[in-house]
Amino acid sequence: MTMSAPKVLSDLDAWLSKNDARIFDELFEFLRIPSVSARSEHDADTRRAAAWLHEKLANIGFTTETIPTAGHPVVLAEWRKAPAGAPTVLVYGHYDVQPPEPLELWTSPAFEPAIRDGKLFARGSVDDKGQLWIHVKALEAQLAVRGTLPVNVIVIAEGEEEIGSEHLAAFVEKYAKRLACDAVVISDSAMFAPGIPSILSSLRGLAYFEITVKGPSSDLHSGSYGGAVVNPAMALARILATMHHADGHVAIEGFYDDVRPFPDAVLAGMRSLPFDEAGFVRELGVSALGGEQGRTTLEKLWTRPTCEVNGLLSGYTGEGAKTVLPAKAMAKVSCRLVPDQDPAVIERLMKAHVEKVAPAGVQVAVQPLHGGKPWRADLDGRVFDAARRALAAAFGREPVIVGEGGSIPVVGDFERVLKAPVLLVGFGLPGENAHAPDEWISVDNVRRGLRAMAMLLDEYVA
Ligand code: BES
Ligand code: ZN
Repeated sequence: MTMSAPKVLSDLDAWLSKNDARIFDELFEFLRIPSVSARSEHDADTRRAAAWLHEKLANIGFTTETIPTAGHPVVLAEWRKAPAGAPTVLVYGHYDVQPPEPLELWTSPAFEPAIRDGKLFARGSVDDKGQLWIHVKALEAQLAVRGTLPVNVIVIAEGEEEIGSEHLAAFVEKYAKRLACDAVVISDSAMFAPGIPSILSSLRGLAYFEITVKGPSSDLHSGSYGGAVVNPAMALARILATMHHADGHVAIEGFYDDVRPFPDAVLAGMRSLPFDEAGFVRELGVSALGGEQGRTTLEKLWTRPTCEVNGLLSGYTGEGAKTVLPAKAMAKVSCRLVPDQDPAVIERLMKAHVEKVAPAGVQVAVQPLHGGKPWRADLDGRVFDAARRALAAAFGREPVIVGEGGSIPVVGDFERVLKAPVLLVGFGLPGENAHAPDEWISVDNVRRGLRAMAMLLDEYVA
């Protein structure tokens, strides 16, 4: 290992170093289970991942239960033997992963973990099995070395995060008493840059729709009928084109009504981060960036809502030309939301907008798929101070405060139901390919993350 061991941690550090190979071997086992929550053909694998995690948590001394939901089960593990009056920390993560396709673009197979150049490649390596594993092993280190934990700990791992956490809000409400805690800790996000530990101050929310346009009862010869029949593909293109103004603003009426501006201090903090815009453009392989004018890239990604096409389907897409007027067209459209936008309100606005702009001659339907509320933290309090100290010690520099454009639907529910602050501290990195081929997590970040999260518990009661 190349890192310098932080002094405060020495007893845990020695254990983590000694057990390094086993920590990674077991993580490899976890990553080999294709727990793709979106696909019913993987339901048995998804259950197997839950069972695997259940066993590991039970083995380190947690009272563990796998609780069924209407979808994939929740693994709930508890350790409540801390000294009287000690606080309770709830750790959340997800054991489900995104589908691995397109398979041919993976350098090594998605479910055969491999380390190259200090990166551990596998579906779920960073999102989120590897990051959840950091917490499990940090807890094991504490228990193995000291026989105890300084705080009570609840671990809750779900299997539906990647499909919108549909059943988790109800679960949190139902089990609110058992989940009562003083702080929630989550690692399911990224650091700002290599070597720069980061604490997350905001997540965007999500409202996801499928828009279908139906025209004639079957596909038609485009010569015999084209020009006189409304083409569903063209109708859909026109509908989608009405969703933005030319300056990048979303044109859906009322879309921005509930947007609460970010505090100037937070925006100033974002501007002070060493963001390498040219490097960002290069990494993406684009010729220029787009979006709302007059805002910085980080501001656009972290503080502004969006409306984006995620997928399009219509007509003939095979080899060569086929003269056909398609009977239907479909688009997947999602809006990322910022505080205080509400997915239910955005759904209403989206439906009203599409109804207003839909041309005659086709039937248009907007079907909501899933949603999640946006979230913003104030970062004041004990758990954040503890995280700053633990991260500084493990990474050798103070953490920065970052925002995030992605969503973790349950975060708002934890805060609302459990009334506990949520610390989001991620160990991914830019370019980690989450949801894409060649997803990876930095091996060094796993090691430092383990030390930071093991130390977080000590710092929390310090
Ligand atoms: N780990 C991500 C959340 C995230 C995304 C954090 C990007 C940092 C950067 C999480 O697993 C995720 O992908 N969430 C979904 C939620 C959706 C399915 C409701 C997302 O953001 O698309
Ligand atoms: Zn994800």
